[in-house]
Amino acid sequence: MSEIDIEKYFERKNEMLNFVKNNKEIYNDISAEELELAIELDLGLVLPVYKTPSRLSQIFSKFEIYNNGKDYYLELVKLLEKYSFLEGNVCEIAAGRYPRLAELTAPKIKMNGGNLTIYEPNIILSQLDNITIIKDEFTKNSNIDKFDTLYALKPCEATITMVERAFEEDKNLMIAFCGCDNSTKKYPKWDVGKYWADSFCMEFKDRYNDETEIINWPSSTGIDTPIMIRQNSKTKVKK
Ligand SMILES: C[S@@+](CC[C@H](N)C(=O)[O-])C[C@H]1O[C@@H](n2cnc3c(N)ncnc32)[C@H](O)[C@@H]1O
Repeated sequence: MSEIDIEKYFERKNEMLNFVKNNKEIYNDISAEELELAIELDLGLVLPVYKTPSRLSQIFSKFEIYNNGKDYYLELVKLLEKYSFLEGNVCEIAAGRYPRLAELTAPKIKMNGGNLTIYEPNIILSQLDNITIIKDEFTKNSNIDKFDTLYALKPCEATITMVERAFEEDKNLMIAFCGCDNSTKKYPKWDVGKYWADSFCMEFKDRYNDETEIINWPSSTGIDTPIMIRQNSKTKVKK
């Protein structure tokens, strides 16, 4: 099955282009031009879903042009709900230029009486309903005392820090790895990166055996990078 609903895509193509054009100033770098060109040339129709640049996928998801089961933002929300991770104080790391995942999780977290904070140095929005935005990098010194849960979708350079901190500071964790080799940012490569993520997961499984769960994406997405989950001691006792 095709990843994108072609009819919806062409119906909404101009709206997507206008969205990028209207936000060109705040995209604030070459990414807006690239995005515009990618939409004009319909590149999204030929790229596999998880290899589409995130800033394009964010817009495709926002304009709801993915076929059923193909929008991985929606699929990750379902997984977060399944693990009851959209409750309490929640932090999303590396939320993206257009923070599509946070846009989907924030109303659910609010409905459950919780709060959402996001870290993203390149975010194009300065305000979003029910979200505290930290326009900065997540580092080993970021204060996470108040958070119950850290989650992320393809957090690239923040990957290792966030996983280590979740284990060391007893946080719930859900991280969907990207396809980059994050051990060095010099030569991040797709496909090779998947093996890096797999071996990183195995290393944590060895170190923290029964605290670490590694799952796959739903098969509908066609994504083969792993998802790592950890439940904090409070959540584990509750179950
Ligand atoms: C591949 S994109 C994924 C964005 C978003 N999660 C998504 O899937 O749409 C990686 C993002 O990580 C952000 N990033 C990189 N290092 C970071 C750090 N230390 N803290 C927070 N965000 C970071 C980048 O700015 C970029 O937006």
